[in-house]
Amino acid sequence: MELFDVYPLYDVTPVKANGCYVFDDKGMKYLDLYGGHGVISIGHSHPEYLSKIKRQLDQIGFYSNSIQNPLQKELASKLGSISQCKNYNLFLCNSGAEANENALKLASFQTGKQRVISFHKAFHGRTSAAVAVTDNPAINAPINTQQEVTFLPLNQIEKVEYEISKGDVCAVIIEGIQGVGGLDQGNTTFFKALEKVCKENNVLLILDEIQSGYGRSGKFFAFQHHGIEPDIITIAKGMANGFPIGGVLISNKIEAKYGMLGTTFGGNHLACTAAIAVLDVINNEKLMDNVNNVSQYFIAQVKQIPSIKNIKGKGLMLGLEFDFEVAELRKKLIFNNHIFTGGAANKKLLRILPPLSVSTIDIDIFIKALKEHLN
Ligand SMILES: Cc1ncc(COP(=O)(O)O)c(C=O)c1O
Repeated sequence: MELFDVYPLYDVTPVKANGCYVFDDKGMKYLDLYGGHGVISIGHSHPEYLSKIKRQLDQIGFYSNSIQNPLQKELASKLGSISQCKNYNLFLCNSGAEANENALKLASFQTGKQRVISFHKAFHGRTSAAVAVTDNPAINAPINTQQEVTFLPLNQIEKVEYEISKGDVCAVIIEGIQGVGGLDQGNTTFFKALEKVCKENNVLLILDEIQSGYGRSGKFFAFQHHGIEPDIITIAKGMANGFPIGGVLISNKIEAKYGMLGTTFGGNHLACTAAIAVLDVINNEKLMDNVNNVSQYFIAQVKQIPSIKNIKGKGLMLGLEFDFEVAELRKKLIFNNHIFTGGAANKKLLRILPPLSVSTIDIDIFIKALKEHLN
C-alpha cells in the first residue's frame, strides 16, 4: 500500500530531536524555528516530559471516559491556574479541528441558532464545521459548504454588528493571532467591541488559541493582550509538545449535560500526562519570560534588515514579510543553512514558530543565514 499523497514534502527525514534542534537520518543537525507547525512548545525530547510519559506508560496508557481519571482534573486545575482562566470548565479531545468542532456545536446547542461569523484568511481546521469556517474554498468540499458561515474583514465592527442584528448567529470564531493566514490580528478596540456585541445578542465568542495560545504570544493566551473574556477558548498544538490532544475551555455560564459532547480517545492517561508535563515545564522554566525576551531581541535584529518590509505577530509567533515570495528562501534556509522556517497563505511571509525555549544564540544563527541570502 502507498500513502494517500496529500502532503508536498521536503526531502528531509528527521530521526532524532533535542531542544530546538532536529537531526536527520544522515546525522545532519537542523535548527527548528517552526516546531512542526507550532507544536513544539517546551523543546523536543524535554527530559521531564519524557520521563513522565515513560512512567505513565508503565502504569496505564488508556481507559475510556467512563471511569475516574484524576489526571484530567490535575490538568484542568494546572491549566486554570497558569492561564488565569478560572471561570471555565475543560473538555478534552484530540486535535485542533476537533476542539473547534466541539466549540461550534456547543455555541449552537447553547443559543439554538446556527449561522457563524468568521474572518477573512481564517484557518480553523479541516473537519466539517471547522473547515466551513476556514476562509479557503479550495479545502471545502460540497458537503462542508452546507454550513451557514459569513466571512467578514478583521477590525470592521460595524459589519459584525450588522450581521449579528439579523438574529440567526450562534457564534463568532476568531484566532487570537491568525496563523496559517499570515499573522494578521484584531486590534484591542475590535476585540472589546466583539465581546460586547456578542454578549448583548446571545452570540458566543469563540477564541481559537490553537496556534496563538500556550504562551506563544508572550501571554498565556493572545486574547489576554486585549483584556477580554471569551465564552469559549480552543487549544491544541503546543498543549502536549507533539502528543495529540486538544481542549475546549468553556465558560461556567454554559451548563454541561451528559452526552452533549464526547470522544473515545480524548483526555486519555498518556495525553493528560504529556499535557501536565508541558504546563509544569512552562511554569518551572518561566518560558513565557523567555518568549518575551527572545521576541524583543529577534524583532530588534530583523528591524535592521532593509528587505524585510513588515514584522507581524507577537511573542514567538512572528511573520517576516518581504516584497518577494519566500518559497525559494525557505528551501535555501533548509538545505544550505539547515534551518526550518514556515510559510503562510500570504506567500511573501516567512513564519517563525520556534520552541518557546529558543535562545538568542539560536536567533543569531538564523539572522546570519538570512542576511547571507538577502545580500
Ligand atoms: C488556528 C488554528 N486552528 C485550528 C487548527 C487545526 O488544528 P489541527 O491540525 O490540530 O486539527 C490549526 C492548525 O494549523 C490552527 O492553526
